[in-house]
Amino acid sequence: MDASPASSASCVHLSVRDHIAFVAVDNPPVNALSAAVRRGLMDAITQADANPDVHAVLVHGRGKAFIAGADIREFGLPPQAPSLPEVCLRIEACSKPVVASIHGPALGGGLEVALSAHWRVATPSAKLGLPEVQLGLLPGAGGTQRTPRLIGAQAALDLMLSGRHVGAQEALRMGLIDRVAAQEDALAEGEAFVRHLLAERLPVRRSGEQTAALADRAATQASIDAARAEATKKRGLFSPLKIVDCVQAALDLPLSEGLATERALFEQCLASPQRAGLVHAFFAEREVAKVPEARLGQARPVASVGVVGGGTMGAGIAVAVLDAGLPVVMVERDEAAVALGRSRVEKVCDGHVAKGRLTPEGKAAVMARFTGATDYAAFKDVDLVIEAVFEDMAVKHAVFAELERHCKPGAVLATNTSYLDIDAIAQATSRPQDVIGLHFFSPAHIMKLLEIVVPAKVSADVVATAFALAAKLKKVPVRAGVCDGFIGNRILAVYRTAADHLMEDGASPYEIDAMVRAFGFPMGPYEMSDLAGGDIGWATRKRRAATRDPKAPPARYVHIADRLCERGWFGQKTGRGWYLYEAGSRSGKPDPEVEAIVAEERAKAGVTPRRFTPEEMQRRYVAAMVNEGAKVVEEGIALRPLDVDVTLVHGYGFPRWRGGPMKHADMVGLAHILADIQAFAQEDPLFWQPSALLVKLVAEGRTFDSLNKI
Ligand code: 3HC
Ligand code: NAI
Repeated sequence: MDASPASSASCVHLSVRDHIAFVAVDNPPVNALSAAVRRGLMDAITQADANPDVHAVLVHGRGKAFIAGADIREFGLPPQAPSLPEVCLRIEACSKPVVASIHGPALGGGLEVALSAHWRVATPSAKLGLPEVQLGLLPGAGGTQRTPRLIGAQAALDLMLSGRHVGAQEALRMGLIDRVAAQEDALAEGEAFVRHLLAERLPVRRSGEQTAALADRAATQASIDAARAEATKKRGLFSPLKIVDCVQAALDLPLSEGLATERALFEQCLASPQRAGLVHAFFAEREVAKVPEARLGQARPVASVGVVGGGTMGAGIAVAVLDAGLPVVMVERDEAAVALGRSRVEKVCDGHVAKGRLTPEGKAAVMARFTGATDYAAFKDVDLVIEAVFEDMAVKHAVFAELERHCKPGAVLATNTSYLDIDAIAQATSRPQDVIGLHFFSPAHIMKLLEIVVPAKVSADVVATAFALAAKLKKVPVRAGVCDGFIGNRILAVYRTAADHLMEDGASPYEIDAMVRAFGFPMGPYEMSDLAGGDIGWATRKRRAATRDPKAPPARYVHIADRLCERGWFGQKTGRGWYLYEAGSRSGKPDPEVEAIVAEERAKAGVTPRRFTPEEMQRRYVAAMVNEGAKVVEEGIALRPLDVDVTLVHGYGFPRWRGGPMKHADMVGLAHILADIQAFAQEDPLFWQPSALLVKLVAEGRTFDSLNKI
């Protein structure tokens, strides 16, 4: 047998025993449908079909998955025969009953392979789904045609438009599978099902020939229309509407024509920049965990966690940790603050119960893992502590002195500071090797991003511990170096400044927010500021003003935000900020008084306002983001451009379908971005200093992505 990993023989194994052909897919880690697997499946089915000794065929996966879908790494490369639709047609056409026995993930093309088999059995923990939409695609191997024929248009559209995974029991209820196996051994369970099939003389039953689920044309059309209306609302996304078009074809056309429509629309999705952006995001989200320290150090065990501070962040962090099944000890300043911290944690749990995500018993179990205390002695046994007290260096130092006194040797000491110098915090302890930044985002139990900030003296195993904790909390970890604002807040400060410059130069805050939303962010910078509270940024600006180097050249400073804060207009919590909020409302209206303040400040600054088109505004906003992103990479604050991408996507609402700012810049063309920066620098050379890395990449004709592969 050929041992080369690319050979189909080593990826798909065929054996015949007792009149059953066993077709085993064996392509670790997740049995993705590479060209070799497709060839192997095609050959195995053809051989089994032609073998008179074979009465039925069983397809199953080796290792941890049935089949996790098409090989995503092949997208964008020249296609290789046979295509997956051809393989699926071949399986469906088999003259002998074909059973797919599913365990673990059966996703995308993996589920499409199963749907082209004639019968399906799944083990209790199997996960089935058509997640192509999350990659900017549609199920392109018959999934859009066979799924509605099997389970009806409404359920098929729900699967394909959400991309969600369903468990075996739900798949059975939907009609996606025929049986839930009694236990996890897919091979034994599949074989038992095949024997039952042969004993009962159950026939070949092709999904593509089913008609019952689409028989009620009016109801099916209504489901398609509703899905189209819903997909239209997802502004900017390309593939959802194409999925709806495919289901319409499933209703209107015979299978062969429906499959042709699906192929044509799949090709369009494949060629779209959104597919490139989303596939980049998929791999980047996995690459971020590959950091040098993970290779150098072994994670320390973490069985219990301490949290200092029960405010907005401390409570959210506690919930994130409790949700992961770990016990939490929270230390606050006094009993009243402990009670408040506990009530914040409980309020989140109550919200989960109200939404049906947690049972009352589940809530009781979560709260039983929570302990509040005022004495740091409560931390004596914890393996890791996360400090989330006021953003003030003296307070942080006092807290770390207590941690040092009470925590056992080897305990990891983490800070959730947003901006403060973690090297300075670490230096103030006698165990800087144990001190690290764990920068959560608000609300900490919901936001996926976790910046893991690595100070100079921290040991590799502490960094590895932080990444292991992130995995346990189901967060997306990004390694960051120490600087003011780390990766995310540092870049945010710069593009927010670019927005402020635009505003003073003539754009209204409402036009800027609208432009940012049209780009794909869920909200603009001024809406964001109103949500988070303008006082937070104001405090940071005042702190920075106090420490500004008097010898440094004066940077342009826009005073408008300060004027709002001086009036106590901090945003939603005060009923007005950049927008006006009616009592209890979270959606604000433009405020003419704010526009008057903006006009007044422009006049004071001697600016004659000018008009900007949305495109002009967008170019400045994006160029500022990309330029600072490049500086962050250049200085080693981010390991690679992809770390910047993941940070902005998961912490700041950058549209995932654009891949992240650095991927977006690659797609726009770095030379264009640099030319914009150089043009803007004519007006303000201090703000628009091009990153040396960007200049170098343009000179060498390279992309940011070329730095991701090192
Ligand atoms: N193609 C290529 N590589 C894949 C892959 C795929 N479909 N799915 C996962 N991988 C790789 C990952 O990149 C990772 O590689 P690495 O170790 O080098 O970083 C490795 O497999 C393990 O993946 P995870 O770290 O994600 O492992 P988990 O156990 O956490 O999750 C999973 C497993 C649920 C299968 C998850 O990987 C996943 O969701 N994969 C993508 C599934 C998907 O989107 N399938 C549809 C593809 S599109 C399609 O099928 C088109 C068709 O309709 C024509
Ligand atoms: P907060 O003001 O809501 O809560 C701080 C809590 O710390 C208060 O409950 C206070 O009683 C407690 N505290 C103060 N000194 C203490 C001490 N010596 N011992 C025990 N408890 C003490 O503040 P928030 O917003 O939760 O911020 C906490 C930290 O998290 C800050 O460093 C902040 O920069 C950072 N952060 C904040 C984010 C946000 O969006 N609010 C986002 C990410 C980080």
